[in-house]
Amino acid sequence: MEPSPLVRPRSYVTRGRKTEAQSRAIEELWPAFGLEFDGSPLDLEAAFGRTAPRVVEIGFGNGENLLTLAERHPDRDFVGIEVHGAGIGRVLGAIRDDGLTNIRIIRHDAVEVFERGLAAASLDEVLIFFPDPWPKARHHRRRLIQPEVAPLLARALTDDGVLRLATDWEPYAEHMIDVLDAEPGLVNLAGDARFVPRPDDRPVTKFERRGERLGHAIFDLAYRPAR
Ligand SMILES: C[S@@+](CC[C@H](N)C(=O)[O-])C[C@H]1O[C@@H](n2cnc3c(N)ncnc32)[C@H](O)[C@@H]1O
Repeated sequence: MEPSPLVRPRSYVTRGRKTEAQSRAIEELWPAFGLEFDGSPLDLEAAFGRTAPRVVEIGFGNGENLLTLAERHPDRDFVGIEVHGAGIGRVLGAIRDDGLTNIRIIRHDAVEVFERGLAAASLDEVLIFFPDPWPKARHHRRRLIQPEVAPLLARALTDDGVLRLATDWEPYAEHMIDVLDAEPGLVNLAGDARFVPRPDDRPVTKFERRGERLGHAIFDLAYRPAR
């Protein structure tokens, strides 16, 4: 029997209108670069037509990080999971304009994709950059990083895989550390330092720039699976 989805509030709200160009990009390019998720396991090798190191980015927003990394690393395959239509349209347009072949997009709640769509030990990297901080106490259960989500992230990583996160919201950084350090399936790569230095090669995104404008410090975290 299939595991039932976790009962939890969503970590996102669907918002923002797509431009005409973004809608057109989805219509024209989804068949080539979109991956339909219907709750069954995904066949990523078939989707890319090759076996290559695999990176998943959850909540890529307008895709600055995803597109930059895919261009930099043609030898790796990138799966972006997002629910925001305008961002998806923008990324599909850029995939076409830049001639990228190593990105596929899933338009679905990432938690459900990790629950049911991804095989164990199938991802070399999982990236979660500037997830919605849900600052109000009554919304904390909407944060993506939760005790029941942490084992799903750990399970999907290969033995040498890495989970990388970043946030500009200090209380969320502390929440991430509390949740992820408590997960027996994960080991904090920063050890007692708790946070890792900002990786030089992590592209700056819209939400990082916004955080910096607001004078926020940026917190980077990295974990490996405990195996
Ligand atoms: C604050 S934005 C950050 C976007 C981007 N990473 C950046 O740094 O600019 C968070 C994004 O995560 C997406 N998101 C939140 N929860 C998600 C989920 N469960 N599955 C897929 N995407 C999600 C939202 O739609 C939103 O675009």
